[in-house]
Amino acid sequence: MIPKSIKGKFLLLTSIFIFLGVWAPALFLFKQFRENFKERATVLIDAELEVIKGKLIDCMSSSSNKDVQALIQKMVEDNFFDVVRIHDEKGIVRFGTEKGQIGKKIEDVSPLKGNHEETKIVLLKDKGLFSAHTTIENKPICQNCHNTEKKVLAYLDVESKLTFAERNFFTGTVHTIMLGFVLAILLFIALYYSFNALIDKPVKRLENAFDELEKMNFNVQLPEDKKDEMGSLNLHFNRTVTKLKLSNKKIEELHFEQLQHADKLATLGELTSEIAHEINNPTAIISSRADYLALECEDNDNLKPFAQDLEVILKQTERISKITSNVLRYGRKLKTEFTQLKLADSLEQSLKMVELRIKKHNIELVKEIIDEDKFIYADQLQLEQLFVNLINNAIDASETGKKIVIRTYQNDKNKIIFEIKDEGSGMSEEVRKDIFSPFFTTKSEKKGTGLGLYIVKNICDNLGAEIKCSSVSGKGSSFKVTFNIIEES
Ligand SMILES: Nc1ncnc2c1ncn2[C@@H]1O[C@H](COP(=O)(O)OP(=O)(O)OP(=O)(O)O)[C@@H](O)[C@H]1O
Ligand SMILES: [Mg+2]
Repeated sequence: MIPKSIKGKFLLLTSIFIFLGVWAPALFLFKQFRENFKERATVLIDAELEVIKGKLIDCMSSSSNKDVQALIQKMVEDNFFDVVRIHDEKGIVRFGTEKGQIGKKIEDVSPLKGNHEETKIVLLKDKGLFSAHTTIENKPICQNCHNTEKKVLAYLDVESKLTFAERNFFTGTVHTIMLGFVLAILLFIALYYSFNALIDKPVKRLENAFDELEKMNFNVQLPEDKKDEMGSLNLHFNRTVTKLKLSNKKIEELHFEQLQHADKLATLGELTSEIAHEINNPTAIISSRADYLALECEDNDNLKPFAQDLEVILKQTERISKITSNVLRYGRKLKTEFTQLKLADSLEQSLKMVELRIKKHNIELVKEIIDEDKFIYADQLQLEQLFVNLINNAIDASETGKKIVIRTYQNDKNKIIFEIKDEGSGMSEEVRKDIFSPFFTTKSEKKGTGLGLYIVKNICDNLGAEIKCSSVSGKGSSFKVTFNIIEES
């Protein structure tokens, strides 16, 4: 399984590289050396065996058993071999440099054990010797004394201890392999700790610093004392954090100012509602008194010339009470309550609220409200707020005398589209992509909070409606809101 962390991958790769780059070639070389060494020693022993065999046959054919024993003894003294034995086909040692072994079975005394028809040379590392075995054939010269039918007369069995150099070589290779193994482990540990100190720790520190940054802790700083890549990374991180800290401070200040402004507007709204409420009472009194006087005028001829004036008073007080009741309705803080509503009715109601502004700016309002009996599911006040915000924006963008077209139409039988089009200032692409962000405004501080379209977008999301805006700078804008129609129940 491949480890997931960089550390795990690094250590795995390092181990593979150490094994493939150092270990495997070293093991191969050692194996090759050993084989060469063994082969050389085997060739040497083989040659020596042939020499002894020749000498033995010469000796046997010309001398006595004593001379054979003396000959093998000499072989040992001359350092040809360390132990020499000659045994018969039954495995009984007949001649031997180790006196105690004469007459014993070869199985009990020779490391090679038993008779072997072919020359055999074995390295016995644990015993630290070469053991060799060969046959003494029945040559014609031997047949003067021995039976002609026998192929093999005896077996020669020798032992040769490893020389100092040979022993050193074999133990040396083992030691070298062990040392290599220990060095590989030490290298691995050194790499592990270096990786920890140079990469793992700084990366973890950076990770923690990012965690802190995510929690908006802009006081987090990393050490910059190291001049390596990590030091430079930390330096850049610290600079970025400092910049973030500054811009966050600026954003907070700006937000605070905007919130203050929004708060002021909300207070103003509440005050306006209160004033409207206060105006309502005297207006009601004026209206009822004027009503009473109007009735009096009908019966009293002296008062008749004032009838027209009273009518004006009545009309104007009615207007005042309409305006105040609209202000009160709009300013009410009510719980949102979704009901089925006629889109056209809410639109008419909203238009009443902006009527005065439209007149004041001398704007030509064109209404094309066709599907008057289409119902949607919405909160009345939210819906009116949506329309009022869009109409107010259109008024703000239009100059005196310009035209605003408001229409509703259908493209799909389940949808109704409300569109408001103005011939005002329009927007650049840059402004257009930000209009739904909170507090985004191009208007002066006194004129706009930049919350209008943000609220409109939220209301649309609540209603499951879609809002789209298209605009050409200097030519005008159009906003389209697509509502879902519901069946009247
Ligand atoms: N019909 C329009 N024509 C041109 N620009 C518009 C129009 N409607 C909106 N905008 C641009 O979008 C910006 C954001 O509008 P939004 O209604 O959110 O805030 P505002 O009108 O500036 O402030 P507020 O609505 O709080 O009075 C406006 O400042 C204006 O630049
Ligand atoms: Mg607005």
